[in-house]
Amino acid sequence: MSTESKNSGAAFDMKLIVRIIKLAKPYRKLLWFAVLLILVLTILAPLKPWLVQHTIDNFIAKGDREGIFFFSTLILGHIGIHSVTLFGYTYVTNLLGQNVIKDLRMRVYQHILRQSSAFFDKSKVGMLITRAVSDVETLSNFFSQGFISIIGDLAQIVTVLIIMFITSWQMTLISLAVLPILLIASEIFRRGVRKAFQTVRQKVSQMNSMVQEQIVGMEVVQLFGKEDEQFGKFEKLNKEHRQANERSVLYYAVYFPIVEILSSLTLGLIIWWSAGSPEAVTTGMITAFILYINLIYRPIRFIADKFNTMQLGVVSSERIFNLLDEQKYTEQDGQIDLGEVRGHIQFKNVWFAYVEDDYVLKDISFDIQPGKSLAIVGPTGAGKSSIINLITRLYGIQKGEITVDGHNVNDLKIADLRQEIGVVLQDVFLFAGSVAENVNLRNTAIDEAKMRSAAASINALDFIENLDGGWEYDVMERGSTLSVGQRQLISFIRAMAADPKVLILDEATSSVDHETEELIQEATKKLMKGRTSIVIAHRLSTVREADAILVLEKGRVVEVGSHAELLEKKGAYHELFHKQFELV
Ligand SMILES: Nc1ncnc2c1ncn2[C@@H]1O[C@H](COP(=O)(O)OP(=O)(O)O)[C@@H](O)[C@H]1O
Ligand SMILES: [Mg+2]
Repeated sequence: MSTESKNSGAAFDMKLIVRIIKLAKPYRKLLWFAVLLILVLTILAPLKPWLVQHTIDNFIAKGDREGIFFFSTLILGHIGIHSVTLFGYTYVTNLLGQNVIKDLRMRVYQHILRQSSAFFDKSKVGMLITRAVSDVETLSNFFSQGFISIIGDLAQIVTVLIIMFITSWQMTLISLAVLPILLIASEIFRRGVRKAFQTVRQKVSQMNSMVQEQIVGMEVVQLFGKEDEQFGKFEKLNKEHRQANERSVLYYAVYFPIVEILSSLTLGLIIWWSAGSPEAVTTGMITAFILYINLIYRPIRFIADKFNTMQLGVVSSERIFNLLDEQKYTEQDGQIDLGEVRGHIQFKNVWFAYVEDDYVLKDISFDIQPGKSLAIVGPTGAGKSSIINLITRLYGIQKGEITVDGHNVNDLKIADLRQEIGVVLQDVFLFAGSVAENVNLRNTAIDEAKMRSAAASINALDFIENLDGGWEYDVMERGSTLSVGQRQLISFIRAMAADPKVLILDEATSSVDHETEELIQEATKKLMKGRTSIVIAHRLSTVREADAILVLEKGRVVEVGSHAELLEKKGAYHELFHKQFELV
């Protein structure tokens, strides 16, 4: 939550505002066009009262029909031009805002996609969603309702005041008599509403996070009977959300009538003063002043709101910029093109920690020749999964070197490296979509024929074809409608279809039914055949067939050798073997 509320008190930071405006650089022409339109509007606005005043004093009062007709036409023309300009202005500023946020959203999302796993370990999903979606949205208002429009309003107030002074300085002063009260009321309103909205946003964000987490973990919530408790928490958030909204409604409900009263009071003062005035006050002047007062009070009434909009945009932008500026976990791509891979993998004295200095892998070294297989075994938490995360550079290492075909993985182009390495993880992640889409991951080079032969090669074609709709079977989000074994088979087909030179397999520990188990064992064998493979092995059959076995304990390699060699040694492997794979 800390990042949500950190900057809430920030005043206008010019540096930030300049940076936001710079986002509009590709749309410079639109920006200037908007500024031009707002200037035209500023000039057009005070023109109408002036025209009205002249029509009344010079023509209506004298009964000059021709003059009345001419000026009425002018007023009509003015209204027409004003409306068209206003339309143009609204359209252009919104277009500008939408274009800027379209670009920005792409940048934010691209940035997120380029982060290494360490970044996701420390970031909340809800926070990232807020950055990419709603913060960016808020920023669009900076352009469409905030910044340019405030400049326009201020300019309008100044020009109207000048014309008012020229017309009658006494009447102008009377018009401004209640202005201090209005300004104070506006400031109280602005602060109150801002605070209420901040609370609203915070509560919305908390509700988002909560619903998201609870839905993902719904089974646990239900199995442990925590529905009431979770519902209570949600109810509390929801209530606080409503209360904050109520407060903002209250501010609006009080503020707008106050402005209305103040502007009516001003009108009353003008008329009262005119009645007893020693100066010659014409009907036209009074009419014009009524219109002028509107032209000043209306923008003042909305400026408070617009300031909030602008400030919200600035706060959002600061959060977005902070995210974009943070490069600590951004993947640094290498230069070397891996080209045709042989599949020679080496770890040389590799040390790795997720969190500073807390090493989970200590001084790991091994060498796998092209086409050979290595099985990694060891107790839970020994660091097996960590090893395989390093080869594909999901995480960076602290000391030592990992090489593929003799190149340090840090020097290789990441996309290249990952294309050559097929990974089948313990927890299979499936996307919402068809089975086919989950197998080819929208890579058009993998057509149905390829997918079929991949499935056939691991004897899983029957399984696919028996699904309702076959390759078009609709996999629900996270693959929730398929069994664990079925999901694994799909991920095997995915790896087989991509036909990588190097295979990394984190064998699932969860037991599946006998039939699927056999299918999976067969598939594993076929997947590994002819490829350099690293397998975190839980099945005896896989361990046995590996060219070498690496026994890992508490992040250290304790034994390496073939199945027979290690059994003979009667060391760690021997012990593990008897514990884990009950010898029949
Ligand atoms: N993302 C992570 N952040 C911090 N520590 C982690 C992370 N993933 C795993 N660990 C820790 O690293 C150690 C090794 O984990 P792991 O490689 O998953 O073990 P294994 O696969 O052998 O069960 C464990 O102590 C685990 O708590
Ligand atoms: Mg593991």
